[in-house]
Amino acid sequence: MAILKVSRLGHPVLRQKAQALPQKDISSASIQRLIDDMIETMREYDGVGIAAPQVHASLEIAVIEVRDNPRYPGVPEIPLTVLINPKLTDLSQEKIKMWEGCLSVPDMRGEVPRHVRLSCEAYDRGGRELKFVAQDFYARVIQHEWDHLQGNVYLDRMNGLTTLSHLAEYAKYWAE
Ligand code: NI
Repeated sequence: MAILKVSRLGHPVLRQKAQALPQKDISSASIQRLIDDMIETMREYDGVGIAAPQVHASLEIAVIEVRDNPRYPGVPEIPLTVLINPKLTDLSQEKIKMWEGCLSVPDMRGEVPRHVRLSCEAYDRGGRELKFVAQDFYARVIQHEWDHLQGNVYLDRMNGLTTLSHLAEYAKYWAE
């Protein structure tokens, strides 16, 4: 396994629509290694998720995990989840705002409205079909990672940039 270099805002890969993966390719050694490396990279940098474009691979793969995360204290745990070609439906009308950050937008936070609940269909890393309902923080992380696969970042989802804050100022003035 390897820790991969994370693309930062301005790298064109973050603005491309990622390619869907044919189901038969999921078991290939190169894709399995990429998934392992994405998991290791997410853990190394205390991410709660990472999408393949963030490691310079324009493919529809995202990994998510929350386990006692120092960047997001107090949020509920999420078991390790690998989503390939995710599709989101049944997004709730209701949205709530919460502060988000992103490994590709280092040292910044901003308030982002997100749907509270959604259904997600995807393949897992074994090529099996997943279908589940997610809500609250889990739904937020899925929407954040899904956005990366469309070439979007959380800044695009903010209602203006007035809450955009450097992490040190966020910690001083806005963190609870
Ligand atoms: Ni991100």
